[in-house]
Amino acid sequence: MQKVVLVTGASTGIGFDAVRILTENNFVVVATVRKEKDKESLEKKFGSKVKVVILDVQNFSEVEKLPAKLKEFGFTELHGLVNNAGVALSGPFAYQKFSEVSDIININVLSLMKVFLATYAASKHAVEGFSDGLRQEVAIRGLKVIIVGPGSIKTPIWEKGFEKLPNYYEDTIYKKPFEIFMKIARKQVERALPVSEVSDCILHAMTAENPKLRYTPIPQKWMNWWLPMVIPKKYFDKVVVKTLKLNPK
Ligand SMILES: NC(=O)c1ccc[n+]([C@@H]2O[C@H](COP(=O)([O-])OP(=O)(O)OC[C@H]3O[C@@H](n4cnc5c(N)ncnc54)[C@H](OP(=O)(O)O)[C@@H]3O)[C@@H](O)[C@H]2O)c1
Repeated sequence: MQKVVLVTGASTGIGFDAVRILTENNFVVVATVRKEKDKESLEKKFGSKVKVVILDVQNFSEVEKLPAKLKEFGFTELHGLVNNAGVALSGPFAYQKFSEVSDIININVLSLMKVFLATYAASKHAVEGFSDGLRQEVAIRGLKVIIVGPGSIKTPIWEKGFEKLPNYYEDTIYKKPFEIFMKIARKQVERALPVSEVSDCILHAMTAENPKLRYTPIPQKWMNWWLPMVIPKKYFDKVVVKTLKLNPK
């Protein structure tokens, strides 16, 4: 029987590459994109191995129609879901426009919860924490919850974020820290891993007899993953405060 995987946010980046690797490995993919032109280009590139649905994951009533859409395509069950659609808009919270905050939470958290049709959590961190509980809860259905938590990955998400950089922090105490933060972010892009590092993990998660509970494709893993985990939070905060010049004047 055909194994069907649903991938959200498949126009570019990790979602797009997940479609590539899954179709190359005999999965049928239902991919969601927001724009007609992205639908056409996915259909052109992957042909009959992909079914494309136009979906803005913020539109909850459209998300609810996904199961019916799958049935229309003739699919009765999903082998997996790559719940990927997301945005990255940076800024100090105190000065972020609330519409921006609410968009990020809506897309990265509420929409992800909606696609999962389960009570999830309130941020990417909470999503990770809660997944341990969810994993146990859905075991009764024979389902697995696997986290693919990447570090910096070379995808358009960075440029999309840089293009939308707000200027309303300029007259605030965050002017300098934000500039330093963005400088570091731009450096991160140079060191970012190729997107295939993530899709390899997704494929492994989808196909392995005994997949890991968590995959961590992260550049400079010692610095960016192990070190922050082992050093006391208090010390880590000090490093961040010093680096971003967040000390009170
Ligand atoms: N790249 C990294 O370094 C990195 C690191 C850690 C985690 N991640 C996470 O990985 C996921 C994919 O990111 P990426 O790097 O591949 O970025 P990307 O290339 O910008 O892809 C993001 C995808 O999400 C879609 N999307 C955004 N808002 C949406 C909405 N409201 N409804 C439906 N689709 C929406 C985008 O569609 P449009 O093209 O229409 O905007 C695009 O297809 C995100 O959740 C991101 O937070 C990325």
